[in-house]
Amino acid sequence: MALREVRTIGDPILEKRSREVTQITDRTRELIDDMFETLYEQNGVGLSAVQVGVLKRIVVIDLSEDGNEQEPVVMINPVIRESDGEQSGYEGCLSVPGKTGKVTRPDHVIVDFLDEDMNSQTLEGEGIFARCVCHECDHLEGKLYVDLVEGPLRDVDAEGDDADDGTSDPDDIISGMNDTDQG
Ligand code: NI
Repeated sequence: MALREVRTIGDPILEKRSREVTQITDRTRELIDDMFETLYEQNGVGLSAVQVGVLKRIVVIDLSEDGNEQEPVVMINPVIRESDGEQSGYEGCLSVPGKTGKVTRPDHVIVDFLDEDMNSQTLEGEGIFARCVCHECDHLEGKLYVDLVEGPLRDVDAEGDDADDGTSDPDDIISGMNDTDQG
């Protein structure tokens, strides 16, 4: 396992569409291991392969620290089959370090994907899980959350006391895909 460099906003690769994975090779497995290692090192909750410079439709998510029961999961070629509801909250991204912004997302998703053995899987979830899946699937289309932000993009404040709009505290949610701690 090895840490990978996380690409940040302004890097043109982040605007490219990632390609479907057609087979799992040793390199793919190594990539997935490295993505988890990089995710944990950066205190994130989700990471897509494009963020480490690989245009493959692979996403890793670990929400276990948010009191979620979900195990860490790798999603290959994820497709959001259904989404509904609405939630507004602060999001962050390891590719946009030190920033956060309010984004409205579906509150419930059903996502189909392949696991590491290329078996079809489906997960369904609400809240932060739905937010995270939407955020990561956007990465695979070359989209960043900053284009969806309502209002200003804010600097992450360790105290979280600059959020006064009554939606949620950036320190609580940050869901996105990164943890405010890293700011
Ligand atoms: Ni992100």
